[in-house]
Amino acid sequence: MKYDVKNVKLADSGKKRIEWAAKEMPVLTKMREDFAKKKPLKNLKIAACLHVTAETANLMLTLKAGGAKLALCASNPLSTQDDVAAALVQHYKIPVFARRGENRKVYYQHLNSVLDFRPNMTMDDGADLVSLLHTEREKQARDIWGSSEETTTGVIRLKSLAKSGKLRFPVIAVNDSKTKFMFDNRYGTGQSTVDGIIRATNILLAGKKFIVAGYGWCGRGLANRARGWGAHVIVTEIDYVKALEARMDGFEVMTMQEAAAIGDIFVTATGDINVIDLHIFERMKNGAIVANTGHFDVEINVKALEKIAKEKIAVRPNLVEYKIPPLHLPLAKGEKERGLKSILLIAEGRLVNLAAAEGHPAAVMDMSFAGQTAAADYIAKNHRKLKKQVYGLPEDIDIGIATLKLESMGIEIDTLTAEQKKYLSSWEMGT
Ligand code: ADE
Repeated sequence: MKYDVKNVKLADSGKKRIEWAAKEMPVLTKMREDFAKKKPLKNLKIAACLHVTAETANLMLTLKAGGAKLALCASNPLSTQDDVAAALVQHYKIPVFARRGENRKVYYQHLNSVLDFRPNMTMDDGADLVSLLHTEREKQARDIWGSSEETTTGVIRLKSLAKSGKLRFPVIAVNDSKTKFMFDNRYGTGQSTVDGIIRATNILLAGKKFIVAGYGWCGRGLANRARGWGAHVIVTEIDYVKALEARMDGFEVMTMQEAAAIGDIFVTATGDINVIDLHIFERMKNGAIVANTGHFDVEINVKALEKIAKEKIAVRPNLVEYKIPPLHLPLAKGEKERGLKSILLIAEGRLVNLAAAEGHPAAVMDMSFAGQTAAADYIAKNHRKLKKQVYGLPEDIDIGIATLKLESMGIEIDTLTAEQKKYLSSWEMGT
């Protein structure tokens, strides 16, 4: 079996971590038990490009129990848990190509390694495999029955590909299921982003001005959790409705230009590029902390920061201090030289929750990966009738996942009476 992980000797520690996560993943465990009996994936060869974490390992074990053959690589160079990667190889015989800290070249070698495995399905977190299958490895696209996508950023890329008429196979947007985006994006990102910031800096959040760029599901979750820690949260937005919602949710709303001068901590959650650019760094206070929780490392213009920095100091793991001139503009006539100011960047501007912490907790990945499992099953069963489009998972799958999750939490809910059902489906009954 081919593989490339940092150190297989870490396998025992990885196994413990995988088993610990499984305890918080009852929905996935239930699906794994069903899959082990029915083997619905026995004809599937899945190449997966996901964050290599204990939660992902549990997804891999579920797909394997269903009969699928697998190869896994990382969807981000900094998110791999090397002990988990080792355990998957050593204890579970699943080929993994991922090393935490791999450079861009190795990252792409690893993507190519899982595609060399000649899959008939791909599973992406950020659409990198699909992207390769539409560029350098275009010929291989004809082997693919379908693909599934985990994240908002990936779905945006795929919808744009479908719109251009160039999508070569069907895609299931797992992200668009309610049991995914309303929980993973909100509570998962909310908690794990704060976790990453605290692990990287150990700063007190209470009383800090905490800027959240973007009020989508991730931004909402983060803003709420940061408020829970006592931070004074300020939201920046480009969407009028979301900005209004943020204000009425009780957050201050202003432009990034305004926020720049007063923020203590800045976190981007927008999915867009250069949200924190040079002119924003220039306005920031000495000692401002900057992080990104969006999928790609494009939201903070780190290159610009590198360019103007006079000094760069590794302060702690995942925390680098950039010493920059207080203003990039030339000094005014007669003005003396100004001292340098510090900007602290967490995890190179890569997604802070996975690079500086352990990603979303297992209890929330339980639902996201139940969706991925259902997507693999759906592709196995329906690939012949699916078109080259981006599909959401059917609503009954979403409801099934929510039902199992509630059951696992010991929660029962009410059901409609016959009279109530009739009322809801009639238009005649009014005042
Ligand atoms: N994305 C966010 N958190 C994650 C986790 N714990 N495992 C895999 N993918 C993730």
